[in-house]
Formats: sequence, structure tokens, C-alpha cells
Amino acid sequence: MDKFLITGGRRLEGNVAISGAKNAALPAMTAALLTDQRVILKNVPRVRDISTLRSLLEDLGVDSSVTHEAHGNRIEIEARQLLNPVAPYELVKQMRASVLVLGPLVARFGQARVSLPGGCAIGVRPINLHLKGLEKLGATISFDHGYVNARADRLRGTDFYFDTTSVTGTENLMMAATLADGTTVLENAAREPEVQDLADLLNKMGAQIEGAGTHKIQIRGVARLQGAEHTVIPDRIEAATFLTAAAITGGELVVDRCHPEHLTSVLAKLEEVGVQVIRGAGQGSNGGPTLAFKAGNKLRALDVTTQVYPGFPTDMQAQYMALMTQAEGSSVITETIFENRFMHALELARMGADITVNGRRAVVRGKTPLSGAEIQASDLRASASLVLAGLAAEGETLINRVYHIDRGYERIEEKLTRVGAQIVRISESD
Ligand code: EPU
Repeated sequence: MDKFLITGGRRLEGNVAISGAKNAALPAMTAALLTDQRVILKNVPRVRDISTLRSLLEDLGVDSSVTHEAHGNRIEIEARQLLNPVAPYELVKQMRASVLVLGPLVARFGQARVSLPGGCAIGVRPINLHLKGLEKLGATISFDHGYVNARADRLRGTDFYFDTTSVTGTENLMMAATLADGTTVLENAAREPEVQDLADLLNKMGAQIEGAGTHKIQIRGVARLQGAEHTVIPDRIEAATFLTAAAITGGELVVDRCHPEHLTSVLAKLEEVGVQVIRGAGQGSNGGPTLAFKAGNKLRALDVTTQVYPGFPTDMQAQYMALMTQAEGSSVITETIFENRFMHALELARMGADITVNGRRAVVRGKTPLSGAEIQASDLRASASLVLAGLAAEGETLINRVYHIDRGYERIEEKLTRVGAQIVRISESD
């Protein structure tokens, strides 16, 4: 298992190019199951979750190929036939987003058998709404040996209300409804940019979807979908993580190839905390929109509550907590999306942070000096927060289990090194 060795105290300065969004690329890849024609995806990030999903698609009998391009990978997927409708436990336990094959498989092939994901490091994370929605679309759902089976001759359009807004739940049902007989209306749907990006791809494939990006999505079912080419949107969480890295090191960064409009809540919070954000400043080295970012001399402690988009993202909560350890005063961080997403607090405390966790609330009292230590990454975003803490700490920080970070950040150590951080990957074989 790889580790990161970080020597803290370096100020970040320079340009960072943001990769494609993992959480947009994953549903886009499963959307390719809805057609027998070729779907071409560009700007796909080179991260482990994408390789895991490719293995799953291969198990199902789907052909795919990958080409390295200047910005991300180009993945071509062709699902001419289904050899096997099973998403096995070994893959689903590695990556819960595997459940995104469920809707497309039932809609196009009339059957799917997917391992139930079980809990994970950040919460219980049930998939009851995915299943309730598919049932409402006419699928028969049954369970055996830890698997869920879904069957349907042809799905029928329906109205479905999400009790809790779910990102992959919305994506799964939106994909399933594209091939249903009649119109489906999804209410209290997720509004995340990744949902909208998926709808854009599906519409290019011939789907008739309106309202993606709002709480009400209407999908008129069609008989078949065709191939398409699509460029995945930039990763808003990767961009926000780099901005926070600049802030915690008192640095100055230009973030290229990002969509600032997807970062409104994070930018507003960072500006209040005391950093200067210049939207559209400079010339994006890669042609994309640019954000320039300059940390102030002093960071102010501010409360934050995670919310569904466009609120402050749960996927930035851990990184924000690391930042707050370096702000003057107390901040209350409230996590409303997942019930167990504070694993990083204990590791941050081992580095000298003063954090009290009580249920879904954490109080951070700053500013406390951080000192480098050997620490454990527990999940993707928690690992990112530990990297940020390591950058701000005095001395050396050794982060174990960085495979968590490789799931969703494309070679973060290379990007950080290019802007002045001292971080090296220690590979198992070294
Ligand atoms: N929920 C239910 N029932 C369901 C589905 C969800 O009760 O059937 C609950 C969950 O337990 C949670 C809330 O609804 O409390 C929201 O969960 P959601 O379904 O929106 O999460 P997700 O779709 O499983 C995606 C991202 C996560 C991100 C969340 C929230 C992907 C592949 N994953 O997960 O990303 O944290 O939305 O924004 O899109 C990450 O990238 O690190 C990550 C965890």
C-alpha cells in the first residue's frame, strides 16, 4: 500500500489544471449500457474508481478502450450485448457507485443482479430509494444471498418523489426512465452539476430529459438510444480541494479548467474566511475558465453546514475542517448528509488540532500549530484533509493507505509538487 511523505510549511504557488469529475464520469460510463452503439467520453480522470467501473463493465460483457489524451483519458464503451447481469460483491464493496449499473441494466436488458453495498466508512448509505423508484417504474425487486435482483419486461413511466435527495438515486432512475414506456417525473431530485452533465450526455444519446439541474426532472421515454461523444465536466471537489490547499499554506494559486459557477458556496465561504478570489482572472493555461486565489494573512473561523447542491458540499467538509484548524477562533462544522463523516477529526487531533465531535457536529478551536505525524487515511475526502494538514504542519507527515485518495484524485502528489509542495509517494515496492 502506497504512502505519502509530506514535509510541511511550503507555500503553494502556481497553476493547477483540474481533471474531469469522477462523480460525473462514473454515471456517464454506466449510461453507455443503455445503447448498443459506441459512447465516447473525454476528460475522464485517471483515478482508481474509473478503473474499478471498467472492470465491472468488462465482467458484464461490455467492450471498452482507453486512450491517454492531453487532458484526461478518452474512454470508448460499446455495450453490444450482455453476457452476465451481475455486479459482484468484490467490486461493489470497493466502490458503491457500482450500483449505477442497476437502472441501465434493467431498462435495456430487463434484468440486473447487484450486490447490496452495505455500510461504508462515512455512513449507512442505503439504496432503498433507488429500489423504490425502480419498483415504481414497474420492476420486480427481490433479494437473496446479499444481492438485489431487478426484473422488468419494459419499464413504465411514473411519478416518483425522493424522500431524501439522492445523487446516484436520481442518476439511476433518470437513466432507467429514458427507455421506459411513457413519461417519468422525478420530484425532489438532486440538482448536482454531475446530474446535469449526465442528462446532457443522455440527451445527446437521444433521450428526452428536461429539468435536470432543478428539483423536478421530466423524462419522456424513447424506444432506443444511440451512441454519442461527451466531454466530462471538471471536478468541482478537486478544484475546491486545491483552493483550500492554497488557503491553508498562505499561498496563491491559479486553478485552470474548472467551472467557477459550480463552486459558488465554497468560494463564498472561502472569501468570508479571508482569502481573495478572482474569478476569470489571468489566462487559463489550458484554455479553460480560470480562478485566481490568494490567501490573506489571517484566516477567520466560520461555521459551516453541509447541504445538498448548491449548498456547501459534504465532499468538502473534511478539507474545510483542516483549514479551520488554522483559523483564528472557534468554528462549528455540521454534517447533515452522512452520519459518520468525521473520521479525519481524530487524525487531525493527533497532529495537534483542537476538535470536539458530538454527533453530527464538530467544534474546531483554532489556531493551533500542527505537527507532522504518522496518520491513517480512512476515506477519500478524509485523506484529502490529511494531505492539507500535512502541508500546513511543521515537520514530516506520513499518510498511510493513500489508495483512498487515488480513488478520486488524479496523482494529487504530482499536481501539488508542481506548485511547490514537498510530497512524495512511497510505493510498496520502494
Ligand atoms: N440515501 C438514502 N436512501 C437512498 C439513497 C441515499 O437514505 O436510497 C441517503 C444517504 O444515506 C445519505 C443521503 O441520502 O444520507 C445522500 O446520499 P446520496 O445518495 O446523495 O449519495 P450518493 O449518491 O451515494 C454521491 C457521491 C458522493 C457524495 C454524495 C453526496 C457519487 C458516485 N458519489 O453519493 O461522493 O458524497 O453524493 O453529495 O456521485 C465522494 O466523491 O467522496 C463521495 C462520497
